[in-house]
Amino acid sequence: MLNWDDYDVAEGESQAATQQQTPVQPEVVNKALEALVEAPATADVTATSQLQAAAAAVANIDTTQGLAELEMSGSRISVDEKAMINCRADLNQLVPFKYDWAWQKYLDGCANHWMPQEINMTADVATWKSEDGLTEDERRIVMRSLGYFSTADSLVANNLVLGIYRLITNPECRQYLLRQAFEEAIHTHAYQYCIESLGMDEGEVFNMYREVPSVAKKASWSLDKTKVLSDPNFNTGTVEDDQQLLRNLIGFYGVTEGIFFYCGFTQILSMGRRNKMTGVAEQFQYILRDESMHLNFGIDVINQIKLENPHLWTEAFQQEVIQMILEGTALEIEYARDTMPRGVLGMNASMMEEYLQFISNRRLTQLGLPEQFPGAQNPFPWMSEIMDLRKEKNFFETRVIEYQTGGALSWD
Ligand SMILES: [Fe+2]
Ligand SMILES: [Fe+2]
Repeated sequence: MLNWDDYDVAEGESQAATQQQTPVQPEVVNKALEALVEAPATADVTATSQLQAAAAAVANIDTTQGLAELEMSGSRISVDEKAMINCRADLNQLVPFKYDWAWQKYLDGCANHWMPQEINMTADVATWKSEDGLTEDERRIVMRSLGYFSTADSLVANNLVLGIYRLITNPECRQYLLRQAFEEAIHTHAYQYCIESLGMDEGEVFNMYREVPSVAKKASWSLDKTKVLSDPNFNTGTVEDDQQLLRNLIGFYGVTEGIFFYCGFTQILSMGRRNKMTGVAEQFQYILRDESMHLNFGIDVINQIKLENPHLWTEAFQQEVIQMILEGTALEIEYARDTMPRGVLGMNASMMEEYLQFISNRRLTQLGLPEQFPGAQNPFPWMSEIMDLRKEKNFFETRVIEYQTGGALSWD
């Protein structure tokens, strides 16, 4: 990369002056003139005929033919023609907006942009490498979290780019999906940045989703419940296929992003609150903030599909969704027990179990379904504060960063 501090201004100026003072040799000019007189005579003819052919081709473009593939292209798009799935209106036209909330989430996502290298990892490297920096239980939590998330976010990105983007037929939602896809790339980058900075065994970390049962079970559940998203032959359009998409969106947003991230996030953020691994914790803090927006977007998309297609949301289907949420909760509780065989960082597996029941109730309510764990409380209220986008202060007291960028323009 060009480093402006290394550029010697005086030397640069003297080079430029030397170049200016070098006289042009007359024979060089003559040679160039001869070339212009001889060669272009034939070249011009070819170029002219090519230009004429191109002009003729564009003059004859039949716009009705080119745009014929876009259904309902004969007239301007009205908001009523837009739909979340199976939409036949032209998807190249962003406005008029039907779902203002999707566009707003895109703007909010951009306003909270961050990059992993902006976070100082020096203290974490020292803690990780010192003999008594962390207990064995704390080390296990860091390893398992990076092991799960480093591959989970790649899986999430694949689902988004290969499936959800294609199957959601609305331009303002696709605009947010593009933003979300980039954020998932940043998250994978952040995990890799932590793994590399700490000098972890990459083979061990990246293979945990195959080799550690509590991690592998979550990954395998997600792969199974989101498999139509990356199937290029899958399409919506029938009741069964539309329900299949809905099922996969719930597996993706409701469980993978909505439940499977919460034990690991809580553990790492609790570590940061105790002033340990503050760089890793700060990365996770920004990831969690992005993720809570991904989840809310996904819930809005699912609820909008339900609203536009009420025939999909049958009693049997609702029972199936409750079952999926319960399976996700059970797997995350198993992960909590595996990663916390004893109390650690002011928490233990049974506190995490109650927290996950609270999260599970929340997901069910968001989807318009009855809570399955009546009375479950949130033992970690500080987690809700971190997810609140308005709270920009860095509570770890490492350094304060204002990540609100690209806010609304004001010409006043
Ligand atoms: Fe992510
Ligand atoms: Fe996400």
